Amino acid sequence: MIRKKFITAAYPGTFDPITLGHMDIIKRSAIYVDKLFIAVAENSEKKPLFSLEERLELTQIECQSLRKDFSCIFEVLPFSGLLIDFAKSMEATLIIRGLRVMSDFDFEYQMTSINKQLSPRMETFFLMAHEHHNFVSSTAVKEITRCKGDISSFVSPHICERLKLKIFDKL
Ligand code: COA
Repeated sequence: MIRKKFITAAYPGTFDPITLGHMDIIKRSAIYVDKLFIAVAENSEKKPLFSLEERLELTQIECQSLRKDFSCIFEVLPFSGLLIDFAKSMEATLIIRGLRVMSDFDFEYQMTSINKQLSPRMETFFLMAHEHHNFVSSTAVKEITRCKGDISSFVSPHICERLKLKIFDKL
């Protein structure tokens, strides 16, 4: 018989910055896992707007309020290199990914297949993004901010404020 044990998962992303879409995936995962590592990728290829330290800080602030509503343990950590190596080093057995639109599928399929080859015991669980967040991306949020558009339905008030400071005050 296969019994449920303490489940540790990793939810990776660049989080530049973390959006309400990411938060939706985090909250829904937290119902099913006991410990969730929110793994913030260094990802220099993407040339993030926020430094790794800032992305960690912002992600940590967003996740703080979750602790009172979920029994799941949340930990925000940086990672570089292969996701699978990070997940294994944290003794995670699951990788959580959100799927938004069909175009996400090819990339996710490739990544899952490679990760499975590298570590056959690692599973990837996909959650369909909420319809409100299907077309949201961190890039879009940054672009809307630069064009002085309203991002309040995509990010928290705090992220909204930090984005404006970063983009317009060049903090
Ligand atoms: N709601 C809203 N937006 C979402 C979302 C959701 N539920 N899920 C993802 N997004 C957005 C992200 O903000 C991101 O926006 P951006 O491209 O404008 O920055 C975009 O959708 C793509 O998300 P994702 O696919 O999660 O990309 P990412 O850059 O955030 O993270 C890594 C990618 C870091 C997880 C991945 O590259 C990785 O694991 N790298 C490590 C190397 C490795 O192990 N590679 C695999 C073997 S080849």
